[in-house]
Amino acid sequence: MNRPSSIVILTGAGVSAESGVDTFRDAGGIWSKVDYRDVATPQGFARDPRLVHDFYNQRRRAMANVAPNAAHAALARLEQAFAGDLLLVTQNIDDLHERAGSSRLIHMHGELGQALCTNCGNRLHWPGDMGVDTMCPACHSTGTIRPDVVWFGEMPYHMGRIEQALERCDLFVSIGTSGSVYPAAGFVEEARRHGAHTVELNLERSEGHSLFAEAEHGRATEIVPAFVERLLNGR
Ligand code: NAD
Ligand code: APR
Repeated sequence: MNRPSSIVILTGAGVSAESGVDTFRDAGGIWSKVDYRDVATPQGFARDPRLVHDFYNQRRRAMANVAPNAAHAALARLEQAFAGDLLLVTQNIDDLHERAGSSRLIHMHGELGQALCTNCGNRLHWPGDMGVDTMCPACHSTGTIRPDVVWFGEMPYHMGRIEQALERCDLFVSIGTSGSVYPAAGFVEEARRHGAHTVELNLERSEGHSLFAEAEHGRATEIVPAFVERLLNGR
């Protein structure tokens, strides 16, 4: 492959799976244990905020026991080589890309370690638990702090920046996502429309696999470092 001039990478839960972070729709995934309508929708939060806080508090605590894997590290190396010509868009709310060294990064579904105050709109770094009695340190209101996570039915973050990058890129790589949630699942078509070469790196065929010009199926910790090395060595 010729050296691309502009790369967009999309990652999903599969890139963190080998770090021990559960995916959503694999066998035994998160949505097989809890109904997404109860914990990942605004309606669910309005109905039972304690349940939703507990769901994210547990996932936030679990982050203390996981570490970035070789796929996260390879993507950080790729960013070092391409710098401003690379944008990493993740659907994941964990911080494993950052901990591996990626910084040109967009969390389109928000971040587990962030809180949002629905009263004053402040976004706050939030490593610990939160609950219905949590006070916002900015406006001192209580009961207004929620996880800064994009739920079903809500708009993802930074879509303007993402769409601009998809229009400019000549290489789009989708890693570890089932391709079942929009708008992320539609990024491959947007990139193709603008002439990009499109690659899927996933454990198995995603829902959108036929839309990709190239695909490699296997574990992210194996196929992502190999893909990055080929790209960096111009092969
Ligand atoms: P959508 O239409 O994009 O996705 C609906 C998805 O819900 C389906 O693709 C399916 O994968 C999933 N789904 C449906 N029934 C399910 C079930 N019983 N168990 C598990 N999963 C089930 O959703 P939408 O309501 O149009 O929301 C789109 C917006 O929400 C986008 O902005 C997207 O980025 C965001 N989003 C965020 C999260 C999150 O947990 N942060 C989850 C999904 C979507
Ligand atoms: N290596 C590579 N791919 C893997 C691995 C692995 N070790 N393990 C799992 N996968 C793949 C699966 O084959 C699957 O296609 O990762 C994908 C995970 O898909 P999902 O569980 O649906 O996760 P994701 O695509 O990120 O979900 C999108 O849905 O519920 C919402 O907000 C949530 O951001 C999430 C969005």
